[in-house]
Amino acid sequence: MISYIWAEDENGLIGASGNLPWHLPDDMAFFKKTTMGHPIISGARTFRSYNRPLPGRQNIVLSRHGDFPDGVLVISSVEQLCELVDKNPKENYFVTGGANLFGQLLDKVDRLYRTKIHHQFTGDTYMPEIKYAQFNQVTSIDGIVDERNRYPHTFEVFERIQ
Ligand SMILES: NC(=O)c1ccc[n+]([C@@H]2O[C@H](COP(=O)([O-])OP(=O)(O)OC[C@H]3O[C@@H](n4cnc5c(N)ncnc54)[C@H](OP(=O)(O)O)[C@@H]3O)[C@@H](O)[C@H]2O)c1
Repeated sequence: MISYIWAEDENGLIGASGNLPWHLPDDMAFFKKTTMGHPIISGARTFRSYNRPLPGRQNIVLSRHGDFPDGVLVISSVEQLCELVDKNPKENYFVTGGANLFGQLLDKVDRLYRTKIHHQFTGDTYMPEIKYAQFNQVTSIDGIVDERNRYPHTFEVFERIQ
């Protein structure tokens, strides 16, 4: 199966100049905890924003170029990616963005892990439109706001209606 995991602001903004528009360690911890032990799939631009394989997870990057660090599986088309996913039906593949890659797998995604940040930021990259009518919300948990995590945020999970 395929899951998406991302954070967006009140306007659906997810990126600014190749990076995240915010600093929210609570969400980074949620990302780590949720994806640990599962394969993660990133677009080349998102991967370049940290440019190293994340530990404890198979790192898959979508790119038409091959220049990535050791330990990264580079896949050059969505068709090849879908073949890999279909061959491993028990595995939960986490697509970690960015917008370009999210936009190409909208018909395939089964589960959505959305962190909604209740604030407006400036940036240049927005989440593509998701048809939420095709999903049921199964979780909504407010994150903790403190000195290190200054923006109110909610961790939400949606499952595709079969
Ligand atoms: N808020 C969040 O949760 C979140 C999550 C992820 C990313 N982001 C942000 O989003 C921004 C990046 O998103 P983006 O949309 O610009 O880029 P992206 O989706 O990360 O990467 C796009 C690149 O991936 C490769 N690619 C995409 N589809 C492909 C395909 N079908 N076959 C082969 N290669 C393919 C291409 O790279 P090549 O040119 O190498 O072929 C393409 O230029 C950054 O600002 C990042 O920080 C935010």
